[in-house]
Amino acid sequence: MSILFQTSESILAGVGTFHSVAEQIQKQLGPVKRALIITISNMKKNGIADMLQQQLRTFRIESDVLDDEILPEPTADHIKEVHSKFKNEPYDVYIGIGGGSVLDATKLFSVLTTNHTSIEEMLGTDNIKQDGIPTVLIPTTSGTGSEVTPNAIVTFPERQLKIGVVSRRLYPKLAVLDPELTVSLPKEVTAATGMDAFTHALESFIGKKANRISDMFALESMRLISRSIVEAYENGSSIAARSAMLFGSAYGGMALAASGTAAVHAMAYPLGGTFSIPHGVANAMLLPHVMEAQLDEITNRLALAAGVMRQGLDINSRLASNEHEAAWALEQITEWTNRVGIPQNLEAYGVKEQDIPFLAEGASQVTRLMDNNPKQFSLAELEQIYRKLLPIKVS
Ligand SMILES: NC(=O)c1ccc[n+]([C@@H]2O[C@H](COP(=O)([O-])OP(=O)(O)OC[C@H]3O[C@@H](n4cnc5c(N)ncnc54)[C@H](O)[C@@H]3O)[C@@H](O)[C@H]2O)c1
Ligand SMILES: [Fe+2]
Repeated sequence: MSILFQTSESILAGVGTFHSVAEQIQKQLGPVKRALIITISNMKKNGIADMLQQQLRTFRIESDVLDDEILPEPTADHIKEVHSKFKNEPYDVYIGIGGGSVLDATKLFSVLTTNHTSIEEMLGTDNIKQDGIPTVLIPTTSGTGSEVTPNAIVTFPERQLKIGVVSRRLYPKLAVLDPELTVSLPKEVTAATGMDAFTHALESFIGKKANRISDMFALESMRLISRSIVEAYENGSSIAARSAMLFGSAYGGMALAASGTAAVHAMAYPLGGTFSIPHGVANAMLLPHVMEAQLDEITNRLALAAGVMRQGLDINSRLASNEHEAAWALEQITEWTNRVGIPQNLEAYGVKEQDIPFLAEGASQVTRLMDNNPKQFSLAELEQIYRKLLPIKVS
């Protein structure tokens, strides 16, 4: 098997590294005159956007800030609308500071400015012809790993789906991992995005495209997230936990870029597209059930994952067989989702029994991800998995 591993051109990582973003931009991008900072209102309110503008000024770089514009899980129409406001302005770099929604939007803005094609024409893999405006991506969630992946996810409400744009032209010139920017993350976003990151690692590890490079990132990602997800949720100001989560998220992204996600993500897409269930919440609910439904195929891989989860939790013992270890890993995942307050119940988001066939149909169409899944699920099997997340009705 040949492996092609690509990631962001450079990564600046560590506590406080945010303060040298402008310096790195100057070193790595050469002469930059004007930057657009794309961010969330929270980063404006807490002074981060202003601090970056100040830094840029010391390097004679002018900048504008676009905050509070990008809606979570952006639609294609929304991205086009926001882009139309600045697409003719001569910016040399777009700097995205936010969660996956902002980072994905920044990636798409970059290639929309230089390619005279629509988002629809870019969907799928390798459909972008020209390089975009250089980007710098600074995650504030842990996370999608978007800062190190070639993906941008777009929501299509009319098709009730989320679809990926995948291209090496979406990698940023610079990714900055500074855990201090994630300290303000609310509890429920910490929980959902953390479980998303774990799902990237585990799916990349059990997927058909798993390889030596993706395994290395996936295993370290799972070790770090196991160690820190509950701590980050319960004690959000812990820099040690935030740091482990941010690296775990970036490694999850690298695992995903080298291998790929699978049925959990495919099944989460229609839940996000139709019922607006946050991406990480949908993944967290589905993860143990999708794994259980293909346990025979993945027992040994899950047992290996259990090994690094135990390391993360400082548990030195292990159970007697791989079957027991695999079952323990799934119990552990369910326990985390409970501890971080994610419901195991689709009804809480308005999903009803009659929606299940439509959801299964939608998931089965995400062939890019389903093809990487160890087991080929039938429509009936997909329906069965969704049904596990509806409360049993007692008549
Ligand atoms: N590109 C990829 O590889 C990839 C991978 C997985 C998911 N995604 C996509 O990313 C999107 C989800 O991104 P996300 O899970 O990071 O959430 P998000 O970007 O939608 O953010 C969730 C909420 O948290 C807020 N927020 C973010 N950081 C904050 C902080 N530090 N302090 C306070 N509030 C903060 C945001 O304003 C938003 O309201 C989805 O569209 C999903 O499909 C992309
Ligand atoms: Fe994801």
